[in-house]
Amino acid sequence: MVAAARGSQLQESHVGQSRHIARAPNAAVLATLTYQSRATRPFSDDELRDLLHSAQARNRAAAITGLLIYDNERFFQCLEGPADSLQVVWQAIQNDPRHADVELLGSAPTTTRFFAQWDLKLAQPHLVQGHSYTDSMYVAPAVVELLYRTPQSAPSILAMLASSSVTNDLHIPDQHYTDRAALSEIVRRVVVPQLAVAHGFADPLPPGSTAQAVELTHLSQLSQLPRLLLAAEPSRAFKLIADAYAERQSLGELCASLLEPAARSLGDLWQSDDCSEVDVTLGLCRMQMAIRRLDFAPHAQAHQVANAHTALLATQPGEPHMLGAATNAEMLWQAGWNTRVEFPATDEALQSLVADTWFDSLDLSMSPSFCREDWRERLKTSIAAARRASRNPALAIVISGRLAFEQSDMAARVGANSGSRTALQIESVMLEALRSGGGDD
Ligand SMILES: Cc1cc2nc3c(=O)[nH]c(=O)nc-3n(C[C@H](O)[C@H](O)[C@H](O)COP(=O)(O)O)c2cc1C
Repeated sequence: MVAAARGSQLQESHVGQSRHIARAPNAAVLATLTYQSRATRPFSDDELRDLLHSAQARNRAAAITGLLIYDNERFFQCLEGPADSLQVVWQAIQNDPRHADVELLGSAPTTTRFFAQWDLKLAQPHLVQGHSYTDSMYVAPAVVELLYRTPQSAPSILAMLASSSVTNDLHIPDQHYTDRAALSEIVRRVVVPQLAVAHGFADPLPPGSTAQAVELTHLSQLSQLPRLLLAAEPSRAFKLIADAYAERQSLGELCASLLEPAARSLGDLWQSDDCSEVDVTLGLCRMQMAIRRLDFAPHAQAHQVANAHTALLATQPGEPHMLGAATNAEMLWQAGWNTRVEFPATDEALQSLVADTWFDSLDLSMSPSFCREDWRERLKTSIAAARRASRNPALAIVISGRLAFEQSDMAARVGANSGSRTALQIESVMLEALRSGGGDD
């Protein structure tokens, strides 16, 4: 087993620096590790479920959380928890005869849990009979393909899957909420005027002014980011995004002025054959990973709102790019909404989501990089079927992604209430859709 030699002491970092995890006396030191392995023989659905349930029970007892991907006799797993307990589980996993070629892809000390809600979640690129959203989730085949091609990116990709699927629902503890009014004020007084200038809706900035310097900084960040996202090593891209957020202090503005334009640049690079589709997906994963690492407090925490709206943020079935769903969910949650993020594999899975749970609104998101013009008919079909299946007969449906950004009439053409051009707008577009869809009373 490769890993026994390479990393049994959890000393490697996936960014290549040797970072020791302080072992023991303090059991609260958190660590994370990601590995890949090959099943020694194919797992049946039942065997996978058994493995999952016993691992979940042990993980729960040891305060370990994580995600396991299984496809085509291959495993990718990310685990996080107290360094000592993790070490014990890691030894057991390496010695488990059900798999071989166990290769550590990254381990590092951490202060953040990406999978805090999951003792162990199983992800597969197809739907399993009796699929339960508590235990398992769908992962787009394109994302698994990306793991096969760039296993060294697995720590980022698995963390991205966690941030795509967080259910920010009524279980969120009260201390996560602060003042919603403060957030609205930042958006109204700081973000909107800056954007108005950047998009030519307000007077040009006087040369040499502070505001002009800010705008130039933003443009320079934008010109660098797509290249940094595709570099072999993403730490400079992560730093640029963290710095950009520190200046703006608003996720919406970060998206509108940097991340979404960078995502479109990646799509343009693909269009001109300057990068592959896998590169675009990797770039988007890395942006999502970078967002997950941002510290939004104290500016961006929402407070619990009585009768808050509920929104399902779902990718259009078949869409592997989840950045839009994740950022829209974060924006709405920060504004006090109850949000749930899912990426249904099929129209039927989307229908069962809206049939099983009452949602006031649905954001159906598509790639922020590709225009997906030829998806119009399937989008229309998905929307019509979701409306028919919805428990809420007045479900307000918003589409988002590059298609909605570039074609403002697309929402009406596919039967949605509205289209959102950027994460910055998502709440206002959702509210308007609720009003026009009759779901706001
Ligand atoms: C792919 C794979 C993933 C696993 N993940 C976990 C896990 O997350 N937590 C866990 O306790 N055991 C996990 N196991 C099971 C362990 O390998 C081992 O069977 C279990 O910890 C019992 O170990 P022991 O017999 O040495 O006590 C996994 C096994 C495999 C094959």
